[in-house]
Amino acid sequence: MSAVLRDERLLLPLTVKQLDSVLAVELQAYPFPWTRGNFIDSLAAGYPSQVLYGPQGELLGYFVAMEGVDELHLLNITVAPAVQGRGHARFMLDELCAICRLKRAQQIWLEVRESNQRARDIYARYGFVQVGMRRGYYPAARSTHASGREDAVVMSLALTTGAPHGLE
Ligand SMILES: CC(C)(COP(=O)(O)OP(=O)(O)OC[C@H]1O[C@@H](n2cnc3c(N)ncnc32)[C@H](O)[C@@H]1OP(=O)(O)O)[C@@H](O)C(=O)NCCC(=O)NCCS
Repeated sequence: MSAVLRDERLLLPLTVKQLDSVLAVELQAYPFPWTRGNFIDSLAAGYPSQVLYGPQGELLGYFVAMEGVDELHLLNITVAPAVQGRGHARFMLDELCAICRLKRAQQIWLEVRESNQRARDIYARYGFVQVGMRRGYYPAARSTHASGREDAVVMSLALTTGAPHGLE
């Protein structure tokens, strides 16, 4: 996957060299962040993964997806807390759809914490629909979830019926 430059933002394939800065954002963004090992495993598996940079070379966000037969599974999409709400997730979702087209994938799948209403709303506005739940999928704080686990909402976006908004 090559670099994509658009609107003064640059998407580059994720490599091991970027992991320190990616992990710094990951730690800020999640109470239960991915580990370095999670990222390294994804890189070793060759999963499509990109890092988004701003005009000053600042890290804005990143995503990691897993390829299936005719689908992509979005495993991680994160925008640095300081620059959330500026369309960077939408920008990366557009790129993910472009990757799907290249690979002739027809569907994107993702899981999102049931309590992550902000992310759920963003995905829904992008065109994702809820297709199921995975019970106890995520670790969670016992202060909010007595079981220490939280359900995941499973969402999917079908790409066969035309481009979702945001795509040309
Ligand atoms: C969820 C998350 C990825 C969303 O990222 P984000 O960059 O804040 O999302 P966006 O800015 O693209 O979208 C939010 C809204 O910003 C608004 N926005 C503000 N400025 C914008 C601009 N210049 N261009 C486009 N949209 C803009 C839009 O209204 C958009 O709403 P929409 O869905 O109606 O388009 C981010 O909040 C995050 O990383 N959270 C922590 C980690 C997480 O929860 N990840 C998801 C796990 S499943």
